[in-house]
Amino acid sequence: MKDAFQHAFSTSDTFREIFQGSAEGILMVDADGIIQLANPVSERIFGYLPGELIGKPLEVLLPLRYHARHVEFRRMFHDNPAPRRMGAGRDLVAQRKDGTEFPVEVSLSYKEINKLFVVVAFIIDISERKKSEEALRRSEEQLLVYAAELEKKVHIRTEALNKLIEDLEKANLFLQEQIAERKKAEEDTKKALDRERELNELKTKFVSIASHEFRTPLSSVLSSASLIGQYAKKGDLDKIDKHVQRIKSSVNHLTAILNDFLSLGRLEEGRVEINNESVDYTEYLQELVEEVKPLLKEGQHIQTDYDLAQRVLQLDKRVMRNILFNLISNASKYSSANKTIYITSRSVDHSLEIVIQDEGIGIPEGDIKHMFERFFRASNVSNIQGTGLGLNIVKRYVDLLGGSIDFNSLEGKGSTFTVTLPLS
Ligand SMILES: Nc1ncnc2c1ncn2[C@@H]1O[C@H](COP(=O)(O)OP(=O)(O)OP(=O)(O)O)[C@@H](O)[C@H]1O
Ligand SMILES: [Mg+2]
Repeated sequence: MKDAFQHAFSTSDTFREIFQGSAEGILMVDADGIIQLANPVSERIFGYLPGELIGKPLEVLLPLRYHARHVEFRRMFHDNPAPRRMGAGRDLVAQRKDGTEFPVEVSLSYKEINKLFVVVAFIIDISERKKSEEALRRSEEQLLVYAAELEKKVHIRTEALNKLIEDLEKANLFLQEQIAERKKAEEDTKKALDRERELNELKTKFVSIASHEFRTPLSSVLSSASLIGQYAKKGDLDKIDKHVQRIKSSVNHLTAILNDFLSLGRLEEGRVEINNESVDYTEYLQELVEEVKPLLKEGQHIQTDYDLAQRVLQLDKRVMRNILFNLISNASKYSSANKTIYITSRSVDHSLEIVIQDEGIGIPEGDIKHMFERFFRASNVSNIQGTGLGLNIVKRYVDLLGGSIDFNSLEGKGSTFTVTLPLS
């Protein structure tokens, strides 16, 4: 049989050249599985000397554990031969002469040479490929590990960064709060300074107004006093009485100015407290009217009207007196002799409404918006004395009581002031 192969082999130069020069290992095996030809590459792959493989059963090239299965496989191929790749989808393992194992790829073909069935096996040692595949797999694995580590690091850094941002935001917030606090403190200081300056201005202004306003009543007191001396010698009691009255009125006027200033000082310093008590309102207003009467001009009189749900109200008598006294004295001061002043008091819902109406000089339209400003006096006051403090004080007291003040006026016809105060 060997000879037949050798013969077939030697008859074709081309075939031999291909066989010898092939880069793959080529084995030719007969129907009994005996190696008949082995090319140099196959000898080298399996670690045999030239010609050493010939005559050996093919199974010497396989680890022992595959022998039985391989014999079976060989028989099947023989019964049903067809060119094919071996071990599709799994790794084939071969064995060298020294017993070491290595991975191979095997393709099978068959041929009848001189009526002899010949299996041709093409064998490639894929150790190197496997190694590089393995290396590739390992570096891919390594890469995945690196990627995972990187991801972890990025995650940790991101968290650290987020924490940093959070801390920064907190610090920023804290800083902003501090800035706001400082701003507020600065504003408060500025407000306090402004108030201080305003108070000082007020005092300066008052001193100039007071020295001006005080001069007239004081000189009138002085002249009346010296006249009283003269009339006393003559025994003219009527004249004496007239000058005593004039002195009283001047002193009243001075007292009123001083009271205004004291009120304003207390209001400015926030020293005015509300002390409500049960007051029989009709009685209270009547007393007040009696108190004002001596200050009225000749022939002037006050008419009071009431429309109250109840007699007794909760009021701060002192604050109410300051409000009403100022308004009534204005009504008298800015009206001529023989005019009537109307005071109407009504309870409306849960408030007390007091209307003080006069038939006096009224207020020029252009002055209306300045009425409650400190030291403001309308352009039509001519030589009627005043400091321009009264209404400003009234407004402040009304605000303090949580009420409101409003007025209507027609120059030359009269004015109506309406105070509305909440009733508890
Ligand atoms: N009933 C009124 N009729 C006309 N004008 C009035 C009346 N009440 C107030 N006024 C005008 O409003 C101005 C301010 O009034 P306010 O009571 O504040 O000051 P004053 O009467 O001038 O001085 P005082 O501080 O002595 O009261 C007055 O100067 C006057 O021009
Ligand atoms: Mg006044």
